Amino acid sequence: METKKEIEEQKEYIKKVKEINQNKNQKYNILTMGCQLNENDSEKLCGMLEEMGYTKTENQNEADIALFNTCCVRENAEDKLFGKLGELKKIKEQKGTIIAIGGCMMQEKHITNKIKESYPYTDIIFGTHTLHKFPEDLYKAIKEKKRQEDILDIDGKIYEDLPIKRNSNIKASVTIMNGCNNFCSYCIVPYVRGRERSREPKAIIEEVKEIAKQGYKEITLLGQNVNSYLRIEKEKNIEFEQYKEVNSFATLLKEINKIEGIERIRFVSPHPKDFTDDVIEAIATCDKVCKLIHLPLQSGNTKVLKEMNRKYTKEQYLNLVEKMKAKIPNLTLSTDIIVGFPGETDEEFEDTLDVVKKVKFEQVYMFIYSRRVGTPGDKMENQIQEETKHKRFDKLKALVESQIEENNQKYVGTTQKVLVEGTSKNNEEMLTGRTDSNKVVIFEGSKNLIGNIIDLKITSEHMWYLKGKLFLGTEEKNSF
Ligand code: 5AD
Ligand code: SF4
Repeated sequence: METKKEIEEQKEYIKKVKEINQNKNQKYNILTMGCQLNENDSEKLCGMLEEMGYTKTENQNEADIALFNTCCVRENAEDKLFGKLGELKKIKEQKGTIIAIGGCMMQEKHITNKIKESYPYTDIIFGTHTLHKFPEDLYKAIKEKKRQEDILDIDGKIYEDLPIKRNSNIKASVTIMNGCNNFCSYCIVPYVRGRERSREPKAIIEEVKEIAKQGYKEITLLGQNVNSYLRIEKEKNIEFEQYKEVNSFATLLKEINKIEGIERIRFVSPHPKDFTDDVIEAIATCDKVCKLIHLPLQSGNTKVLKEMNRKYTKEQYLNLVEKMKAKIPNLTLSTDIIVGFPGETDEEFEDTLDVVKKVKFEQVYMFIYSRRVGTPGDKMENQIQEETKHKRFDKLKALVESQIEENNQKYVGTTQKVLVEGTSKNNEEMLTGRTDSNKVVIFEGSKNLIGNIIDLKITSEHMWYLKGKLFLGTEEKNSF
C-alpha cells in the first residue's frame, strides 16, 4: 500500500514536469549499458519521460535531457561513461542540457565521488533503488537548479505500475525479481542491486496478460537468479493473496504458459545450483517455453568454481546438463564464461575448454575477469596478468567459434519456426527473425510477416546468422 502511495506522488511530479514542458518540444536521449534488467529499467525511465512530455532522440547533442543508465559488472562501462560526460560539457554550456545518471554504477561511492569532483555539471545522480523517483528528482533539478543526489544504500522496495515505453512491439521483458543473494566472489551485483526479492505473482501475471493483449508474441522473464523466484518469501512465510498455486519458478512458468496470445517464453538467468527437477519438468511440459536455456558456467574447474563461490562442481554442472538433455527434447544451451579469475592456472582453464567441448553450447558469452572494488575477488592476491587473460580468451573464442560453425551446419536444410522481428539492419530489403534457439535468420519476404511466427527453410549458415527462405508450395518440412 505504502508503495502505491509513493507512486501516486510521483505521478503528481510527472504532471508538474509536463506542465513545465508544454509546447516546448523537449527531447531526451538515453544510453543504456549492461544487461536486460537494465534495458527493462530504461524502458520504465522512457515511459516516465514520455509521460512528462519528452520525445526520444537518438542524437545526444540535440537532447534537452541526456540520461545514462549505467552498469558496473565490468570495467569498460566506466571509461565509456566518463568519456561521454567529458564530451557533454561543451554541449551543456551551449544549450543547458540536463545530465542525469542512474543505475548500478551510482551505487558505488568511488564512482559518485569521481562524478562530483570531475563532472560537477551533472544534474541528477540516482541509484537502483530510487529509479521510481526520477520524476521528483527531475522536477527538483529544474526548479531548484541544483544537483539532485538520490541514492539509497538499503534495499529498495518493489514498485508496481510505473509507466513503461517498450523498445519493441513484438518481444517484451518482464522483471520477476530484483537483487541477488549469491555473492559470487567476482560479482558486484549483490552490492549494487541489494538482496533478492520477488515480485508478487499477481503483478507479473497481470503484466504478461496486458502484454499479450497488446499483441506481443514473446516474453523474457528477468532476474539475477530467476529459478529461486519466491524462495526468500517462502523462507519468511510471506504469502500472497492471489495466485496461491504460484509458489516457485516452475509454477510461475506453468501459469504464464497458459496465457493466450504469448507464443514464446524465455528467461534469464537461472543459477545451476537452483536448477531443481520441477523447473526441468516445467520447461519440458510447457509448450511455449523455448528450449534454449541459458545456464551460466563461469568456469569449468571445480577449484575455481569454489573460489568463485558458485556452489557446484564441474561434474555437477555436466550431470545437470545430461539430466536436462534427457528430459527436455531438442534442448540447446547457452552460457557465460569468465576467463582469468584470480589464481586460475593454465591447467584449470583447460577444464573450462573441456566443458565447452562436451556441452557444445549454442552460444557462449565470454568475459575477461575484471576486478570490481568491494568484491572478494578484488582482494585476492593471485590476480592473473592481462596478457595471460587475453591469451586464454582468444583460445576459448577460437574453440567456441569452431563449435558454432559446426553446430550451424545442423540447421541447413531444416525447417525452423521463426518469429519475424523486422527488416534487417544491414539490408532493408530483407527480413530478420529468430528461431526458438535464438538464432538470427535473414530471409526475403513481405513486411506483413513482421510480428508473426512462420516456418522457414534454412538454406545456408554464416557464423552469426542463418539464411532462410519461405515455403512456396508443397515442399517437405523437416525439423531436426
Ligand atoms: N568480470 C568479468 N565478468 C563478470 N561477470 C560478472 N562479473 C564479472 C567480472 N567481475 C559476467 C558473468 C555474468 C555476466 C553477466 O557477467 O559471466 O554471468
Ligand atoms: Fe552475480 Fe552470481 Fe548473483 Fe549472478 S548469481 S548476479 S553472477 S552474484
